[in-house]
Amino acid sequence: MQACLGRVLPEPKIAPERLHQAMRYAAQGGGKRVRPLLVFAAGDVSRASQERLEIVAAAVELIHAYSLVHDDLPCMDDDTLRRGKPTTHIEYDEATALLVGDSLQSLAFQLLAEFVVADEPATQLKMAGILAHAAGSRGMAGGQAIDLASVDKALSLPELEMMHIHKTGALIRASVQLGALAGHELPEAKLKALDQFAKWIGLAFQVIDDVLDAEGNTATLGKTAGKDAKDNKPTYAGIMGISGARDFAYELKDRAEAALSELGESAHRLGEIGRYIVERKF
Ligand code: IPE
Ligand code: IPE
Ligand code: MG
Ligand code: MG
Ligand code: MG
Repeated sequence: MQACLGRVLPEPKIAPERLHQAMRYAAQGGGKRVRPLLVFAAGDVSRASQERLEIVAAAVELIHAYSLVHDDLPCMDDDTLRRGKPTTHIEYDEATALLVGDSLQSLAFQLLAEFVVADEPATQLKMAGILAHAAGSRGMAGGQAIDLASVDKALSLPELEMMHIHKTGALIRASVQLGALAGHELPEAKLKALDQFAKWIGLAFQVIDDVLDAEGNTATLGKTAGKDAKDNKPTYAGIMGISGARDFAYELKDRAEAALSELGESAHRLGEIGRYIVERKF
């Protein structure tokens, strides 16, 4: 993923140099690459080629990296540390960070327009639509709006689930769908099973993110621990307690695993990533 991003990101020597350097800083500065892993593992199910999956994974990771840069801005979570390094707006400046987000997002869609990533052009168009929907106001950006509007509020569990499914779940769900669509056409039942898996594992991902924010430490996380409580954000850990929230995440992982039983051995790596998502320490 790191090498592929290196190829598709504009060279830092090309003008505007500072923006291009900052784009690399934000997109290549580490991270777990969970969404790319999901793209590749879903691509196992449809036997998609590695070349296609690389591009699709890069597109999803670019959207994710953009979302983190904007999430950390002073007008949002106002964070200074990300992936163990200063956030993009601290290392560069706020205006550059804003433009980094804009440019990473555009580059993601440029990749889906310029590379062949599906058997049929109609499928490829559908893939671009799925990513756009997942990133936009009915997906990640919408979830972020709910998140900001929820500061100092006590949300019910269904409201919290709604927020998490959008701000984090949507892009995880898109990762699985896109990996599956990049290969041979799958029967509707298999696509449905994959989507069920992705829905539950996407929610589990953010539940664990909340748990780690509450109980982890800054050095391990590579981002400031305890930030949700400090900002008075509603979280699963806040409502259910840390161990209750972790139990809930494992229950979600079990639901996700159950959905994979339809898919047999080809979904082996999805199952492994599902377990990693709830067991991870950062
Ligand atoms: C953090 O995502 C933000 C959320 C959507 C919860 P990750 O935990 O995947 O961040 P990186 O990519 O590993 O840094
Ligand atoms: C962010 O959620 C979700 C995004 C869309 C980036 P958080 O605000 O909880 O993510 P972290 O904890 O800062 O990584
Ligand atoms: Mg946030
Ligand atoms: Mg944040
Ligand atoms: Mg968090």
